[in-house]
Amino acid sequence: MLLPIPDVLTSDQVAEASRVLDQAEWVDGRVTAGHQSALAKDNVQLPENHPAAKLIGEMILSALGQNALFVSAALPLKVFPPLFNKYQGGQSFGTHVDNAIRQVTGTPHRIRTDLSATLFLTNPDEYEGGELVVDDTYGTHSVKLPAGHMILYPGTSLHHVRPVTGGARICSFFWIESMVRGDSDRTLLFDLDTAIQTVNAVQLTGVYHNLLRRWANT
Ligand code: NI
Repeated sequence: MLLPIPDVLTSDQVAEASRVLDQAEWVDGRVTAGHQSALAKDNVQLPENHPAAKLIGEMILSALGQNALFVSAALPLKVFPPLFNKYQGGQSFGTHVDNAIRQVTGTPHRIRTDLSATLFLTNPDEYEGGELVVDDTYGTHSVKLPAGHMILYPGTSLHHVRPVTGGARICSFFWIESMVRGDSDRTLLFDLDTAIQTVNAVQLTGVYHNLLRRWANT
C-alpha cells in the first residue's frame, strides 16, 4: 500500500525544521547507503547523530505518535530515528530497494524495514524534478507532496528519486518495523479500521471478500 499522510507537521513546524536544517552542515549521503545503493545514491545528508537531526527527528516522531492515519496504516512497533537528505544541482538517487535491516548507529537496536517513509520539508514550487518514484505491482507512482506531508510505502518496493534540476529538495526519510509484518495483512486491517470508522458498507464488504479469498478452499 502506497499511502499519502497529509499534515504530519504544521506549517510552523516545517518553518522551524527549515530554520534548523539551514544552519546544519551536510555530508555525502553515501554514509548510510548499503553497498549496492551507494552506487546509485548522489545527495547530501545530515550525520545521524547531528543535534539538528535529533531535534527535528524528535518533533517528527512526536507528531507521528499522535497521527491516527499513520498509526492505523503502519501499526508501528519501532520507528528508525528520522534521517534528512538534500538534493540539488542535478543530484538524484537511482533505482534501489532499501536495506531490509537497519541498525540504529551507536546502539544494539535493529529495525526490520517493513515500511519506508519520506516526509517532504520543501514545497513542490521550491525545486524542479525530484519526484520520488515507487514501483509496485499496480505500476509506477510518482510522488511530490507539499511540505509537512508524508508518503508511506512498503519497504519491499523498488524506488528512485528523479534528478533535482533547480532549487533544493529537503526531506526526512526513515523506516518502520510494524507489529504486522506483511503488507497485505496490514492493508486488510487498515481497510477494516477505515470502514469501521466511516461505517462504509462497500469497504466492509471488500474486507469480507478479501478474507474469504485468502482463507477459502474451493
Ligand atoms: Ni531508498
